Amino acid sequence: MKTKFEKNILCIGAGYVGGPTMAMIAYKCPQYKVTTVDINSVRIAEWNSHILPVYEPGLDEIVKAVRGRNLFFSTDIEKGIKESDIIFVSVNTPTKTFGVGAGMAADLQYWEKTARQILECAETPKIIVEKSTLPVKTALAMERILTLNNNKVHFDVLSNPEFLAEGTAVKDLENPDRVLIGSRQTESGLRARDELVEIYAKWVSEERIVTSDIWSSELSKLVANAFLAQRISSINSISALCEKTDADIANVARAIGFDSRIGGEFLNASIGFGGSCFKKDILNLVYLCRHYGLNEVADYWKSVVKINDYQKGRFVFNMLTAMFNTLAEKRICLFGFAFKADTGDTRESPAIFIAKRLIEEKARLVITDPKALKNAKRDLHGIDGKISYIEDPYEAAAGSHAIAIMTEWNIYKDLDFEKIYRSMIKPAFIFDGRNIIDHKRLFEIGFNVFPIGKPALTHFE
Ligand code: UDX
Ligand code: UDX
Repeated sequence: MKTKFEKNILCIGAGYVGGPTMAMIAYKCPQYKVTTVDINSVRIAEWNSHILPVYEPGLDEIVKAVRGRNLFFSTDIEKGIKESDIIFVSVNTPTKTFGVGAGMAADLQYWEKTARQILECAETPKIIVEKSTLPVKTALAMERILTLNNNKVHFDVLSNPEFLAEGTAVKDLENPDRVLIGSRQTESGLRARDELVEIYAKWVSEERIVTSDIWSSELSKLVANAFLAQRISSINSISALCEKTDADIANVARAIGFDSRIGGEFLNASIGFGGSCFKKDILNLVYLCRHYGLNEVADYWKSVVKINDYQKGRFVFNMLTAMFNTLAEKRICLFGFAFKADTGDTRESPAIFIAKRLIEEKARLVITDPKALKNAKRDLHGIDGKISYIEDPYEAAAGSHAIAIMTEWNIYKDLDFEKIYRSMIKPAFIFDGRNIIDHKRLFEIGFNVFPIGKPALTHFE
């Protein structure tokens, strides 16, 4: 069938990255046909339904505007490959759980399977764009696979890491700080790069489209995530010190953030970072450094993950000591389970670790979250303990000994805490793992309040 479109774009992997990114390209470029395919037929059916598999503010509107016009979701990967000029690969690359590099290196099996499938089905030249975060030099391996026993079809491989953050995906895609494109510096590599630049240039200003060699591009993605995570571990490490010295982490963060070299963003102390990328990408970087014999560099970055684990453990330990050294049979209500606000995603959420530790202490858990209860149930499936899931925060908190805030959802800031206090067992505790509520007010209501990196406010002697 002849299409009326200027270009056919395919994306393999309809996840948190592939789905929203392709929706934005289709939305901004009506002249291109954009198809997103996935091996998971349930996910594809959801992308074609009223309730999308990914919750992102503003995404529903965009998908509704373009789906069926120039945005399509399908399970027919072969047909997609055959018909496309440009193929984005956005399949998942989790941390390896087996063999060499287990717990550290990226598991590239899906990614290699995808490369082989492209090789098998392609009949015309294609530009292959790595969207997934991958270890440095993966593009080289991809090129090698794509030139195996086939010199009929020419492939150019580009690296184009995605920097969107979940919960703000639409905003980040529409107004990116930068778009990074790495290519081979050959004539054909540069031509492929220019084709990709042309797509983004439809809505991103040219000075924000940064080009580089392919390896620097691959490495930059790992390094960006490592630097971001390092900021959180840095502020979280200082939060521990603040709790011992009566300093206030919010005041410290504000004071240092005024220094333009440091900047005020991304300095919120918390129960620790989560999400599918930070830990995985740092461990990947650590593995890469060890591979090249750079053990000091590896240890340096590994400590970012160590502090994150320490922060999660510290939070539970503080709960235990504050509540008279026993949590057994106490009802504890977790406010939020997503790894951050405005997403239903719970991958690597600190709430998973905290929930499991509380269950080990034999607490009874009640979990509430506006978007993530389905994932929470899946994450805690099979755990031997008393856990209930209640969407309404008032109902969830009633009869609890303590509330622990896991996710910085806006709705938690404006709850009627007097009503909640009345419904709880006394003395009532609140552990604010995100420092989002008015601690003084809660203390005045009667709560014993334990923020992160600030003095606790208690009614005890
Ligand atoms: C993924 C990677 O995990 C991350 O490293 C990268 O930076 C961006 O892409 P995300 O979109 O969040 O992130 O992953 P996920 O939501 O798991 O989506 C991946 C999709 O690929 C899944 O829907 C999965 O079914 C699909 N997939 C996986 C394929 O279509 N084919 C495969 O062979 C493997
Ligand atoms: C991150 C990167 O920001 C993004 O560029 C990359 O493409 C993917 O990884 P994401 O994991 O979606 O994005 O969310 P992000 O906003 O970076 O938050 C990660 C974690 O850090 C969350 O658990 C969040 O709650 C936590 N965080 C963030 C803090 O604890 N304090 C902060 O100040 C900021």
